Amino acid sequence: MTRLLNSLLNLLRDARNRLDYPLRQLVRWQRAGFRIAPRLRGDPFAALPAEDRPSAMALADRLIRTYHLEDFAAQTTPINYRENLFYLHLLESALEATPISLPETVRAADVGPSHWFYVQALAAVLRWWQTPRPRQIDLQGYEIDAYRVYADLHSRYDHALGHIRGLTGVTYIPRGFSTQPAAFHLIFMLFPFVFPEDHLKWGLPANLFQPRALLRAAWQSLQPGGALIIVNQGKAEHHAQRALLEAEGIPIRAAFRHDPLLFRYSLDRFVLTACRHA
Ligand SMILES: C[S@@+](CC[C@H](N)C(=O)[O-])C[C@H]1O[C@@H](n2cnc3c(N)ncnc32)[C@H](O)[C@@H]1O
Repeated sequence: MTRLLNSLLNLLRDARNRLDYPLRQLVRWQRAGFRIAPRLRGDPFAALPAEDRPSAMALADRLIRTYHLEDFAAQTTPINYRENLFYLHLLESALEATPISLPETVRAADVGPSHWFYVQALAAVLRWWQTPRPRQIDLQGYEIDAYRVYADLHSRYDHALGHIRGLTGVTYIPRGFSTQPAAFHLIFMLFPFVFPEDHLKWGLPANLFQPRALLRAAWQSLQPGGALIIVNQGKAEHHAQRALLEAEGIPIRAAFRHDPLLFRYSLDRFVLTACRHA
């Protein structure tokens, strides 16, 4: 019975999405004026259990210093600060577990960045991971639903540009990702949809749900020696993602659950990495 109801709900979601997704693509809503309100003073880790706070603060300090995020830390909200540090810690752990060497100029793609609330972390890790001198970066975020309109009447695109602020070498691209053979050193897939229900709930039509084809496009777009970094939420997604990698013949280099010290989500975050042969 529940199964039947869920199928029915998904059919309704698809019918709605088949109407309003193309409409969004037609209207391409953008509005100037979205700004991140700066961080208020106070302890961003106040909500953590007392025993975790010293280690969270020490880790945050190290990340801010290593990745030169002092200005960002002073100019964002407490929640965005913590989420960026969580992503930064996760991405650093993923690179260390893989491991790869990054060239002086690194080309990277993020597949499905949504409103890119974590772009500061992503750009910082590319620029400063294991190097005393900053790298040049060319970071491209491909978002298939960039014109979704939020409650503040700004689009996802507006929010993404607000989060990018002054970052150089970072571009938000309002279209779906497709294969660009051997174009990138690194490709990120941070919470790609692996179950159709999530895809539908996020407002996309069912015919765009092609997780295996998207994974293949990402893999084929890596340079030899490049790496794919995938993050999923919860064990079920993690296992489904592993099955997709196996079905595509993509060898898994590292797989781990990320330590949630800096941000507690209801579902654990799991990392998978893969390297293309040099
Ligand atoms: C669960 S969200 C993840 C957002 C973000 N990466 C994060 O870490 O919170 C998945 C995103 O992928 C986007 N997406 C889905 N299929 C895509 C495709 N083929 N190309 C680019 N973006 C896609 C969706 O619109 C959505 O914004």
